[in-house]
Amino acid sequence: MKILFIGDVVGSPGRDMVQEYLPKLKEKYRPTVTIINGENAASGKGITEKIYKQFLEWGAQVVTMGNHTWDKKEIFEFIDEAKYMIRPANFPENNPGKGIVYLNINGTEIAVINMQGRTFLPAIDDPFTKMDLLIEEAKQRTNIIFVDFHGEATSEKQAMGWYVDGRVSAIVGTHTHTQTADERILPKGTAYISDVGMTGPYDGILGVNREAVIKRFLTSMPVRFEITKEGRTQLNGLVVSIDKNSGKSTNVERIIINEDHPFFG
Ligand SMILES: [Fe+2]
Ligand SMILES: [Fe+2]
Repeated sequence: MKILFIGDVVGSPGRDMVQEYLPKLKEKYRPTVTIINGENAASGKGITEKIYKQFLEWGAQVVTMGNHTWDKKEIFEFIDEAKYMIRPANFPENNPGKGIVYLNINGTEIAVINMQGRTFLPAIDDPFTKMDLLIEEAKQRTNIIFVDFHGEATSEKQAMGWYVDGRVSAIVGTHTHTQTADERILPKGTAYISDVGMTGPYDGILGVNREAVIKRFLTSMPVRFEITKEGRTQLNGLVVSIDKNSGKSTNVERIIINEDHPFFG
């Protein structure tokens, strides 16, 4: 079975890319499950109920989040009903929402976990011990476990990758918005990439208007970050093949679609 993952969707340019290419990617790879990171889907900050539902309509089964989870305040109105949205599992215990979801696709159970690093990110609960707990819980039901590890530091992501090798099917990094070329299957069968990258503006800075970001570096003054609405766009993702019984990965392939890397169906 295959799982398709699409990296941080940024604003309307990112959503347009998903709408255009998700059907083509599904036709090409025939994934059993599609997962989208939606933490930046609403103009770069958070997600709305409408966008969450759109992602499901367009063919995703799970939407994962990250440090921008709470940016759009309307999330508090719908997160309890959003069965297929997960936010980092190591947010403090009293936070709304959940960090793990189980899918049942034609009798096959699949666990999807969202976790967040805490190096150069807000101080939240320990992702390593939380991961142990969730893997133990998920293993009662299935060997197929997919993790979106939302983190800034490649060291922390690599550490987590090796920490869970052989215990989860795949762990993919998100958050940096820059795809890394280190996809591989670790020795005990866990597919790994430090960062899947982002889906949205191709000529911004991590999706944000270039002038504003450069001004910030030049002046150290606060600036208003806006999504680059004009111009070229990209889609970054990854597809992983998993042995249904053992839960181990057998193949991992990076997906990059933009003007320099055209899509071939
Ligand atoms: Fe992001
Ligand atoms: Fe993030």
